Amino acid sequence: MRDVIRFVRRGQVVEVSDFHPRTTLLDWLRLTDRATGTKEGCAEGDCGACTIVLRRLRNGAPVVEPVNSCILFLGQADGAEILTVEDLGDPDGRPAGASGEGLHPVQRAMVDMHGSQCGFCTPGIVMSLFALHETAPGPVDRRAIDDALAGNLCRCTGYRPIADAAARACGPERAPPRPLPTFPEADPERDVFVGSDETFFAAPASEASLAALYARHPDAVLVSGATDVGLWATKALRDLPKIIWLGRVAGLDAVEDDGATLTLGATLTHARALPLLAGLDPDIGELLRRFGSVQVRASGTVGGNIANGSPIGDLAPVMIALGAEVELRRGDEVRRVPMEDFFIAYRKQDRRPSEFVRAVRVRRPGRDAAFRCFKVSKRFDEDISAVMGAFHFVLGEAGGERVIRSARIAYGGMAGIPKRAALAEAALAGAPLSSRKAWDLALDAIAGDFSPMSDQRANAAYRGHVARNLLLKALTEVAGASTDRTRIVGRRPPELEAAHGR
Ligand SMILES: Cc1cc2nc3c(=O)[nH]c(=O)nc-3n(C[C@H](O)[C@H](O)[C@H](O)COP(=O)(O)OP(=O)(O)OC[C@H]3O[C@@H](n4cnc5c(N)ncnc54)[C@H](O)[C@@H]3O)c2cc1C
Ligand code: FES
Ligand code: FES
Repeated sequence: MRDVIRFVRRGQVVEVSDFHPRTTLLDWLRLTDRATGTKEGCAEGDCGACTIVLRRLRNGAPVVEPVNSCILFLGQADGAEILTVEDLGDPDGRPAGASGEGLHPVQRAMVDMHGSQCGFCTPGIVMSLFALHETAPGPVDRRAIDDALAGNLCRCTGYRPIADAAARACGPERAPPRPLPTFPEADPERDVFVGSDETFFAAPASEASLAALYARHPDAVLVSGATDVGLWATKALRDLPKIIWLGRVAGLDAVEDDGATLTLGATLTHARALPLLAGLDPDIGELLRRFGSVQVRASGTVGGNIANGSPIGDLAPVMIALGAEVELRRGDEVRRVPMEDFFIAYRKQDRRPSEFVRAVRVRRPGRDAAFRCFKVSKRFDEDISAVMGAFHFVLGEAGGERVIRSARIAYGGMAGIPKRAALAEAALAGAPLSSRKAWDLALDAIAGDFSPMSDQRANAAYRGHVARNLLLKALTEVAGASTDRTRIVGRRPPELEAAHGR
């Protein structure tokens, strides 16, 4: 057992044991390390002013991730190197001179292209662009720049000069990546437990240790990426005396693909899940590209998105439509639950005390199936869905025409839980694919399937309208009408369309 957390800061391994489990990395940086270049704007993962970069070894390979330090707990830096805006310049640590010598190329480009005015967002933007600089496979285009900056809000400069700076720093003349530090000694088999039985930050190393620890402390809060739990600390001001972080549990992020079923470990981040889920259907890739921001996707996990039971979480409707299962573990007992049965009532899931989500198992849609999913939010990027719809039709032939053999339709934002549209599904089962009569019956049935609520994201009437329109859009596309008419963004690339046989 190790009773300290360890990370690399400015070339040195730092050990910390005296901290409250809910201490955020931002607070540690600003209040203890006095690295005040990193700013606090929203304290909820939205504005990106607090963006820093973590570098660590994952399965032996280096990874570079921009994260929102405001909602990351200090303990989650265990094993990583923490890089802030102060660390980017001259490797010898000399402050940048008046003429800008010693600046990182990203910083230099921000100066040259006039990418900063009041400067409050600038450290976060520089760190997001530094991560892009270090990870982009080649010179970046505008879309890659926009994606990299979707989680950084600037209220005064305007994005054109910032995007120009990104294009210059991450263009063909890009500087070589920063050499890796010596990471803290890897001790993958040792559990970490910092604190006492009443107040602790724990990071078990194996599933068995996690199961045993959670059995002893069923009142502990499990933390995976903390993109939800972080806000319990910063916004709800909850005390969170016992935190069990899942990020060190060996194998809990494992991916298995036997050709028919894709199994995603609970701690797999959205960034890592994106290409795998895009391989099931390109729409899921586009959905994940719009999931939060690069920072949120670098930390947030598949298991966290399902376990939190939010009625507006984006993965749940997709998984329900695809007939996925949740795999749960308590002690040595493992069980599987169909995703749609996991959500019982608002924020109430079929999860027993001390039970944790182990994985999500999703069947690959067959070649006779067509899938679509669409997210509607107030802001296009980095926003929670007002309504999210996922549509899975199994198609066939009858009497010389194409028919819908069965339909699985699930929505987020339409009820207290992510939920299937049973009446709409029944209206389509067995119907000719192009039958407007069947479509109309299914569209009308949605009013019987859901009584959505009104809140700050959308009112009930709007939600009902959008749900109808999303089903209509899915049917229109699957029945073969032009995608040009139904898509403004998120086009399904023709080569992927061909690969999916529809
Ligand atoms: C700025 C911002 C944008 C966001 N955008 C989106 C979005 O577009 N779409 C969307 O769906 N969500 C969005 N979210 C919400 C959040 O990012 C997701 O729900 C994310 O997947 C949560 O994963 P996590 O690993 O961070 O969970 P955590 O915050 O670590 O945990 C979430 C909940 O799940 C529990 N938990 C975590 N792992 C397990 C496990 N293995 N077993 C049992 N319980 C577990 C925790 O105890 C907690 O109750 C956004 C959040 C932020 C801050
Ligand atoms: S302070 Fe706004 S994202 Fe962290
Ligand atoms: S420079 Fe003022 S917020 Fe971006």
